[in-house]
Amino acid sequence: MLREQINFHNYRYNVLDDPLISDSEYDMLMNELREIEAAQPELVTPDSPTQRVGGQPASEFVKVRHPQPILSLAAAFDAAGVRAWYERISRLIPAGTPMAFTVEPKIDGLTVVLTYEDGRLVQGATRGDGVIGEDITVNARTVKSIPLVLRSDAPHPHPHRIAVRGEAYMPIDEFEKMNALQLSAGERTYANPRNFAAGSMRQLDPRLTAKRPLRVLCYAIVEWTDTQGATQPPATQWELLQYLKALGFPVSDISRRFESLDEVIAYYDSYNDKRDSLNFEIDGMVIKIDDLLLSEQLGYVGNGPRGALAVKFPAREATTILRDVQVKVGRTGAITPNAVLEPVQLGGITISKATLHNFDDIARKDIRIGDRVIVKRAGDVIPYVAGPVVAARTGAERVIQIPDICPYCETRLIRREGEVAVYCPNIDCPGRLDRAIEHFVGRGAMDIDGLGTKIVAQLIDAELISDVADMYSLTKEDLLELDGFAEKKADKLLDAIAASKGQTLDRLIFGLGIQHIGGVAAQALAGYYGSIDALLAATAEQLQSIDGVGPVIAESILAWADRSSTRELVRKLQAAGVNPTQEPRRAPVVTEGPFNGKTFVITGALSLPREEIAAWIEQRGGKVSESVSKKTSYVVVGEAPGASKVSKATALNIPMIGEDELKRLAR
Ligand code: IVH
Repeated sequence: MLREQINFHNYRYNVLDDPLISDSEYDMLMNELREIEAAQPELVTPDSPTQRVGGQPASEFVKVRHPQPILSLAAAFDAAGVRAWYERISRLIPAGTPMAFTVEPKIDGLTVVLTYEDGRLVQGATRGDGVIGEDITVNARTVKSIPLVLRSDAPHPHPHRIAVRGEAYMPIDEFEKMNALQLSAGERTYANPRNFAAGSMRQLDPRLTAKRPLRVLCYAIVEWTDTQGATQPPATQWELLQYLKALGFPVSDISRRFESLDEVIAYYDSYNDKRDSLNFEIDGMVIKIDDLLLSEQLGYVGNGPRGALAVKFPAREATTILRDVQVKVGRTGAITPNAVLEPVQLGGITISKATLHNFDDIARKDIRIGDRVIVKRAGDVIPYVAGPVVAARTGAERVIQIPDICPYCETRLIRREGEVAVYCPNIDCPGRLDRAIEHFVGRGAMDIDGLGTKIVAQLIDAELISDVADMYSLTKEDLLELDGFAEKKADKLLDAIAASKGQTLDRLIFGLGIQHIGGVAAQALAGYYGSIDALLAATAEQLQSIDGVGPVIAESILAWADRSSTRELVRKLQAAGVNPTQEPRRAPVVTEGPFNGKTFVITGALSLPREEIAAWIEQRGGKVSESVSKKTSYVVVGEAPGASKVSKATALNIPMIGEDELKRLAR
């Protein structure tokens, strides 16, 4: 059962270039099988995956026999694994034998074997099953970094026939560009550069390969034939790398030679952090005994030489099920989808949420609810869904629908020309993150110094905050990651954030950015209710009784209190210690405002929607009524006013004012 599973995944990976599971999951299956076979050696059969060198060659290419088996490597996953390997080989070597190591990046690409005769490229082959590979000579010739003719300077003659092993890969920046191109051409995209490189190298049409910016890095000599006996292969791995370089092969410039295991481990560790700074993907480092004769004498175990070890980095990719999609409003009003995942372990943490970038991306990658998806996480970066595993579909998956209406303000969403992405056009949408945060930290609200537009944008872009409450869980380490932050600036900002927990209730209410709630209304609400919890339980009747709160504001508060996102945010703030209270005065509150005691009637079109003008009046203590009566203080007249309102105002001798005059009255 386990063997069948492994064989199946082997085939997906090696033959179809379309793996269903991540490399680390595959490694886990293999390790499990190795453990079982080690405990019960009688179970080992010649056809066990542990006894094989690789997968089947694809049938479309001409098959070629390798000059010697193209082996793989034993793997370790941490420093302890490296020391255990060293212990094992030390027992096989006479005590006191000096030992040096070459450490190379473990390039996550596709193995190629390049054969040269009299300095000319005569064959390129894939690894295939390790014994028989596929002839990809025409494709190899299109890869610019593969030399077609070897350099042969005096100190470095090449033998009559030499075969070199290397790894073909696609640089990360090129991968991103190419995937974008593939998308716009309506072609399939690849979940990672390795799959892209493999797919490109194994194109049946070499013209397609030529268009792909592939590169190669070489690290081994697998055949050396010199009939004249005039040349000798290099004696150490370090010299071998220099030799390959002299012949014109690309060789990694981050390979190093060390004389102690501690240095080897330190170098491996350093690249666990630095791997993202490289323009090619590495999934670990390879440690090789430098002395090639000594290495050869150590022999082979399983399908690799004892004298070398692949030390993997913690996994950054896993597959899991996409359970649901939740939406948020981004900085520009773009509605951004977030994945709700079946929890999965990745790089030491459990992941249950990930970003899905945008609806364009979902549509292009055809990600569906219920899909098995590839989730990636690089360093501290927020995990994201890289794509679906289409082959794992059962038919029960559901296409992800783009919402029509903003979940925060119920405004109809819009699409811009040529984009699938949707936006909430409401500038005041309470879901708009950057504005929401800028408003929250502003002078009249929580007054957090040092959080300008630029820093707010940085925090959002680094996905450190996705609502105002997240600000209270920012750490110094988070801030130091950002451009332009040093110790002092970070400390100062954290102090200012902490201090804001002591702000008054009216500032918090104002800061929450409830539609139409200005400073005056916030004071009235704080005075009447005394706490956020009491405000959440407000009734229409209570609200209407508060001076400075008219029907528009009341309606807005009720809608705000009704949203589940509001309650979640309030709970988060309270948990962070942001929960100011004051003595409630459950009596009509009289606020100070220029329109106190005044009633307005609005007719005709003004510069803003009627509702906003009404809220503006209410915020200044006034009331807005629908019909003209003796109680009306002013009729605000816009363009094309209602005839009945104008005639009634004239009859009752009520002053009619324009918008400018209204503004003047408010001063
Ligand atoms: S040495 C017998 N060196 O990683 C020699 N391999 O499991 C074995 N790889 O399949 C290979 N970078 O395709 C070696 N610097 C490097 C490598 C490297 C990537 C690949 C290779 C192999 C796998 C190890």
